[in-house]
Amino acid sequence: MKGTVYLGEDCLDARLPALTKGQANFVLTDENVFALYPDFFKKYFSGAEIFVMNAGEEYKNFTSLQAILEKMVGAGLKRTSRLFAVGGGVVGDMGGLCASLYMRGISCVQIPTTLLSQVDSSVGGKTAIDVCGVKNVVGAFYQPQEVLIDPNFLKTLPPREWKCGLGEIVKYAALDGDFFETMYQNKENLSSPQLALSLVYDSVALKAGVVMRDEKETGERKCLNVGHTTGHAIELAFGLSHGESVLWGMKLETKIAMATGVCEKEYGQKLLAIVEAALALPPVGKIDLVKIGEAAQNASADKKNVDSKNIVMAVAKAKGEWTILSLVADDYKTALERAARKE
Ligand SMILES: NC(=O)c1ccc[n+]([C@@H]2O[C@H](COP(=O)([O-])OP(=O)(O)OC[C@H]3O[C@@H](n4cnc5c(N)ncnc54)[C@H](O)[C@@H]3O)[C@@H](O)[C@H]2O)c1
Repeated sequence: MKGTVYLGEDCLDARLPALTKGQANFVLTDENVFALYPDFFKKYFSGAEIFVMNAGEEYKNFTSLQAILEKMVGAGLKRTSRLFAVGGGVVGDMGGLCASLYMRGISCVQIPTTLLSQVDSSVGGKTAIDVCGVKNVVGAFYQPQEVLIDPNFLKTLPPREWKCGLGEIVKYAALDGDFFETMYQNKENLSSPQLALSLVYDSVALKAGVVMRDEKETGERKCLNVGHTTGHAIELAFGLSHGESVLWGMKLETKIAMATGVCEKEYGQKLLAIVEAALALPPVGKIDLVKIGEAAQNASADKKNVDSKNIVMAVAKAKGEWTILSLVADDYKTALERAARKE
């Protein structure tokens, strides 16, 4: 990982004047962020070309990619130009991909504005769009030059988006012993903005460390997919938010790992208590556990699978330890249905 992450209330003032000076700048944001923060755009990007995309995952697609790239060409950006992605994970993923493609790569600065994008998507250089209903299937590894994380953006975040970010934060508890203890001690307090803010720093540090050791996900970076195989399958089948789906994924995969003897029982129970506390926060989305088998089918298309027969999951094993669990597709479906029945 080459970029530098700046975190704190003063990071925009500290970095943006220097980063925006002396070349044509291009800003990508979405309609909600643009409407919420007019003064921010006036203050830092008065002379820049600003592209305001529609908000939402359904716009992380080829149509938006083409429109943004055409606007970049029209703006006459040069190799020295810089793209600033100001928004949640959708804007960050789209912006990073556009920066990687324009003139074979221009500098990109990520300014994440959701909890999820601050703790996860802005760091690590994964960029992508969804194609033919398959999530993140076309993309590139492209590291941002800098990531500027200002916690003030989180003040306007609705509860649904807060919970979305928590889904990824809880994931880190499964990877690091100290992080796990902090989360376990504070599990009744997960909606506290103060707690979440202190966890943003630890989350970013943890993710950046993993990415520096394994940028292209050939080994250790797979740990960041804890809960995600089943989470993505649930997201597709039941339309829950990404974060809440990841929480469900962590819950069911931890139960599967405990049932197969891969995850220590006592530790697994404590991890489940953290996940349950996060799941109980509003808004509580519903999934039909009787139909969980339908979600199992979606897991067959997961990018982590190496063949069509086995479902690959990154699961918690013991405090600060994780492992890969691979189950034959039929066994995965049975295990998932059993884990859901024990609800
Ligand atoms: N690249 C990665 O490593 C990585 C990791 C995890 C997730 N992702 C991707 O991230 C995306 C999800 O990101 P997300 O949850 O940030 O979704 P998002 O970008 O859709 O943002 C969620 C909503 O919050 C709004 N919003 C943004 N900032 C706001 C603010 N400060 N105040 C109020 N509203 C605000 C947005 O307009 C949007 O409606 C998915 O596409 C997922 O695939 C990428």
